Amino acid sequence: MEQPRNRVFSGVQPTGNLHLGNYLGAIRNFVGLQETHECLYCVVDMHAITVWQEPKELAANTREVAAAYIASGIDPERHIVFNQSKVSAHAELAWILNCVARIGWLNRMTQFKDKAGKDREKASVGLYAYPVLMAADILAYRATHVPVGEDQKQHLELARDTAQKFNNDFAAPDFFPLPEPLIMGEATRVMSLRDGTKKMSKSDPSDLSRITMRDSADDIAKKIRKAQTDPEPLPETVEGLAGRAGADNLVGIYAALSGKTRAEVLAEFSGAQFSVFKPALADLAVEKLTPITTEMKRLMDDPAYIDSVLEKGAVRARAIADPVIARVRELVGFI
Ligand code: AMP
Ligand code: TRP
Repeated sequence: MEQPRNRVFSGVQPTGNLHLGNYLGAIRNFVGLQETHECLYCVVDMHAITVWQEPKELAANTREVAAAYIASGIDPERHIVFNQSKVSAHAELAWILNCVARIGWLNRMTQFKDKAGKDREKASVGLYAYPVLMAADILAYRATHVPVGEDQKQHLELARDTAQKFNNDFAAPDFFPLPEPLIMGEATRVMSLRDGTKKMSKSDPSDLSRITMRDSADDIAKKIRKAQTDPEPLPETVEGLAGRAGADNLVGIYAALSGKTRAEVLAEFSGAQFSVFKPALADLAVEKLTPITTEMKRLMDDPAYIDSVLEKGAVRARAIADPVIARVRELVGFI
């Protein structure tokens, strides 16, 4: 079986409230890889149900993530866009990898600790095994590169460890490539607009904490205007942002949206008050985001089209995963 050298896999959970962190930390980077890599972009609905999802909302949110992919510039003709639950290889490989990965590895996962909260006994078994399903997503296609935001780094390390242990246990050196994380750009960790020390997240109770991929131009401008900052003007250098989480976050967002570095943004705005910088950031955000949100809305008014994209994507995904699973079954000794 031939090993692809440039195969990208990544996923986003259909859990609603897609936000600027998802866009800048992940989806926008997915778009850029299409010229150089063979890409699979998945809507990971099986990951979403590790915490409760209303069935009707899950379906709508699945279409929303697919629409966000396409509206952001992912071409579902050239690359593969699909939802995870349509391809049974993910679940099948996840079970086998559950028997390869160690409990000790999962016990170290910080995302589980955060999401399970204090009452860990009440978390689903799926939430605990989540990183193993993620490893299966990637390895079912023997993907080599995985673009993600910084919060997924630890999960990627677990995927690599699991791949390595599988290869060792079943005496199949190099069967699974060790997937490389691609954590790219100036906004690998976008922070809450209300608290620069917390990650921007879909589940923050405050709507003002995040810019979503459904926000109108007015919403975007309002949220930036209200973003938490400090009374100092912008510094001259990146070092000057240390200890100024709110300011650092807005400069990082500006940098990512404009395709510049933080240093270049500061060269332009050093000494500026937030009363000047915030409107400039709002204009830039509206300019970059509204064409995408408008196109997303248009696509979501045509669910039949989105469903057909996901269905065709799943057929192509199965064609890649099925031979991998067949080989895994042989290696394990299933008859
Ligand atoms: P999720 O919404 O958890 O499915 O995340 C989808 C993608 O967005 C993953 O690659 C995450 O690492 C990325 N992501 C989520 N939140 C942020 C954030 N605040 N900043 C940057 N990237 C993020
Ligand atoms: N765990 C990722 C997140 O929450 C989503 C995800 C699931 C993923 N499977 C993946 C990302 C495989 C990259 C590769 O952001």
